[in-house]
Amino acid sequence: MNAQMDWHLARALLEWQVELGVDEALMDAPVDRFARAAEIQAEREAERAAPVADVVPKRGGAPAPVAAPVEDEVEVAIRAAQQSAAYAADLPSLAEALAAFPHCDLKRGARSCVFADGNPQARVMIVGEGPGAEEDRQGKPFVGRAGQLLDAMFAAIGLSRTAPDPAQALYITNTVPWRPPGNREPSKPELAMLKPFLMRHIELAQPDLIVIMGNVACDALLEQRGILRLRGKWAEVAGRPALPMLHPAYLLRNNEAKREAWADLLALKARLRQLP
Ligand code: URA
Repeated sequence: MNAQMDWHLARALLEWQVELGVDEALMDAPVDRFARAAEIQAEREAERAAPVADVVPKRGGAPAPVAAPVEDEVEVAIRAAQQSAAYAADLPSLAEALAAFPHCDLKRGARSCVFADGNPQARVMIVGEGPGAEEDRQGKPFVGRAGQLLDAMFAAIGLSRTAPDPAQALYITNTVPWRPPGNREPSKPELAMLKPFLMRHIELAQPDLIVIMGNVACDALLEQRGILRLRGKWAEVAGRPALPMLHPAYLLRNNEAKREAWADLLALKARLRQLP
């Protein structure tokens, strides 16, 4: 503590940071973000000026198409994501491409790029919202309290992320791979620029069924909100049946809603039996 800062001032500053959403110290030493601002701006301008093909991993030396320059930053990001995702021939390459994607600011505040967990051969793929603090720490989706409830819910219908048999397995990902600061919801532009990776993820994993876990996942995959209305109603994503369900974080706060979640789990189990 410096000479001019007494205990009360230090505490007031700390409380102010907590109010702004700071809930965790990421590094031992503070980082002067103002000093980094000019550097970040220069990096962004260089990224924007570079042809999109420069940030797309190339496969087998094939020439990547160069996108025409566009004005809007989000449009540029979406286009880069589409190209980068399309070039990923398998899940490990997709994870690599996502980790290298430079356009999403969420990346700057997160420790991990949380790609997926479970069995990629699973018949059921769950798409959640985004990593929280524990997921960011461990680099895996749904490993905090909501994740424990998710595991228990699916165990009740015989499905598990650790099952080697695809018929009993789960494969789990999120709409965004980086933890949004202060656990806020991912914004529309963030969802839009990361959606090409999510769609390619589904295409490569080829699940028989998709569970759309909560409002944000509905927004990303169905472009609709209102999970209390949408839950339990079968939709279609990438040509596959998809079931919107209440998010386990919501169930932790609303015990009585577990009844609806149970009905949806049973519907999922029945649909799995019907599918070839
Ligand atoms: N909530 C989510 O939607 N995803 C996670 O990975 C963790 C919590």
